[in-house]
Amino acid sequence: MVLALGSDHGGFELKQEIIKHLEKKGIEYKDFGCYTPESIDYPIVAKEVGKAIANGEYERGILVCGTGVGISIAANKVKGIRAACCDDHFSVKYTRLHNDANILCLGGRVVGPGVVCELVDLFIETEFEGGRHARRVGLIHEIEQEG
Ligand code: RB5
Repeated sequence: MVLALGSDHGGFELKQEIIKHLEKKGIEYKDFGCYTPESIDYPIVAKEVGKAIANGEYERGILVCGTGVGISIAANKVKGIRAACCDDHFSVKYTRLHNDANILCLGGRVVGPGVVCELVDLFIETEFEGGRHARRVGLIHEIEQEG
């Protein structure tokens, strides 16, 4: 799986840690920016990564801003995106098992470089459980269609 990555300045440093981790593990990624710690608006990156996933170019992605919250709100405006802002193992595991989250959002000012590697691994390795959860994810998409 090739991961789509993105961050604003608040998530830049943590994204560099994630990149180091992915490279060490030989996991492919495409970095949609930002590429420097200079201030940028997180909805721009959220939209770009969200669209690349929604159109099927990438299966899953990781977005990082200061809290993980703003960038998840923005990414969730793209149809087909289920972006989950998580900073603990339990939430990451269950957002994959039950919500089939296709973007993990992290807070660069919330989680540290050690824990983030484990959260990223869990997000990549955990598969959607389907069954009754597929019905629920379908209902989420019905809301999306209603607008
Ligand atoms: C930028 O300062 C900060 O607002 C942003 O990274 C993020 O935390 C927004 O939710």
